[in-house]
Amino acid sequence: MTSGPNDDALLRLEASREEALAYAAEIVSGAWRSFDAFRPDQPEMDDELRAMLQAALPDGPTGALSVLSDAARVLDTSLAQTRPRFFAFVGSSGLEIGVLGDLLASCFDINLATWAGAASELESQAVRWISDFVGFPAEEGAFTSGGTVSNMTALAAAREHALPGTRKRGLHGEALTLYCSAESHYSILRAAELLGIGQDGVRSVRLDGDRRMDPEALAAMIDADLTLGAVPVAVVATAGTTLTGAVDPIGAIADVCDERRVWLHVDGAYGLPAAATATAGRLFAGLDRVDSVTLDAHKWLYLPKACSVLLVRRRVDLETALAHEEDYIPHERPTAHMVDVTLEYSRPFRALKLWLAFRAHGADAFRAAIERNLRQATLLYEEVRRHADLEALCGPPELSIVPFRHVPPGVHDLDAHNARLVRHLQDDARVWIAPARIDGKIGLRPCIVNFRTTDDDVRALVELTRELGARLP
Ligand SMILES: Cc1ncc(COP(=O)(O)O)c(C=O)c1O
Repeated sequence: MTSGPNDDALLRLEASREEALAYAAEIVSGAWRSFDAFRPDQPEMDDELRAMLQAALPDGPTGALSVLSDAARVLDTSLAQTRPRFFAFVGSSGLEIGVLGDLLASCFDINLATWAGAASELESQAVRWISDFVGFPAEEGAFTSGGTVSNMTALAAAREHALPGTRKRGLHGEALTLYCSAESHYSILRAAELLGIGQDGVRSVRLDGDRRMDPEALAAMIDADLTLGAVPVAVVATAGTTLTGAVDPIGAIADVCDERRVWLHVDGAYGLPAAATATAGRLFAGLDRVDSVTLDAHKWLYLPKACSVLLVRRRVDLETALAHEEDYIPHERPTAHMVDVTLEYSRPFRALKLWLAFRAHGADAFRAAIERNLRQATLLYEEVRRHADLEALCGPPELSIVPFRHVPPGVHDLDAHNARLVRHLQDDARVWIAPARIDGKIGLRPCIVNFRTTDDDVRALVELTRELGARLP
């Protein structure tokens, strides 16, 4: 086959690269300026934008600056979790140095499946730094695409540990069990579904009065299952539940697991960074005794998605569960492959953004930013308690989630009222909030994990809830 006349120009932009980069940089700095303060509205899609998003696959080119400009419109008309009044879910806040890290990482497009030079050393260093930051003695760690995948990977290792040879043999009717609190994240349930434990093998452990796993109930459940011949795969303690931010008592749970030789995994996807603070650190006592840990740096370490870290006490546990020898990826170097400890084969350089962030700001700045979010959660709780038309749905926050609802006099169906109120708040868009159900009551579930959020933004959430709530017919 001969080459065509313009082959060397294939996939080259018609604008100069420098022009395209400068234009992209302009879009980014405009966005950063707009994230500095809250935006009073959320732009809606107009007909032109809708038409563009319905267009068929283009066979020919459009100018690079023009398509970048279209992308900027789409982005500006989307819900950005980076904005200071985004209180829904567990957001991420697009820390600027992390954004630059993503740009650089994707420019060089290194794959950390196998040894990749200095990038591999950097990934190991970032794992050591994050382990030191939270106080977990990790022998190995890996960056993954999210808490769901980190949890799944840890539980794959736990299953092989509990029932050696399962990855080869498969399951043959063994009754596997997994223990987590009734308010653990559903990624644990999904992992159980995929690992052959099954939903029926997941034991939902009773909560105590502070919505934390009850270690006595846990011990009784494991003992009852052992008597029936079940194989306990792991206990998952949640360090910061998604619903209310409760931190399970890791030390007491570790006692139960040690005695019965059961793997203990801590899902700290949301809450674990708070282990590094003076205020909340005590809640995580016992972390140094667990087998594996999940932490999402794209949640409370403010980095852009996705940047999760799985940490394990013993490297061999991950290798035993996950390593392969394949003809197209032989172990020809003394250094082990990172694919031997993770599920992902294409492994982008996620560690770079965390490394840059720790270097550019220093660990103290992260501790201080998390402390500020903790104080803001207390401020929000106090504001809620100060108003007779608001009701806190939990006690004082352990971390930074403060569920509450609007309870004006004379309204009988408070669930319907609050569900409508959330929709009105979203239509109004001066704050962004999502609903949640706690003990059957529908309310608002703000989570504060953004370094841009100010105390005034927190007060605005309360004021707008009361203002719009009072106006609902
Ligand atoms: C406690 C907990 N675990 C796991 C996850 C899932 O993390 P990801 O969305 O990164 O997969 C979340 C998400 O909010 C979470 O709060």
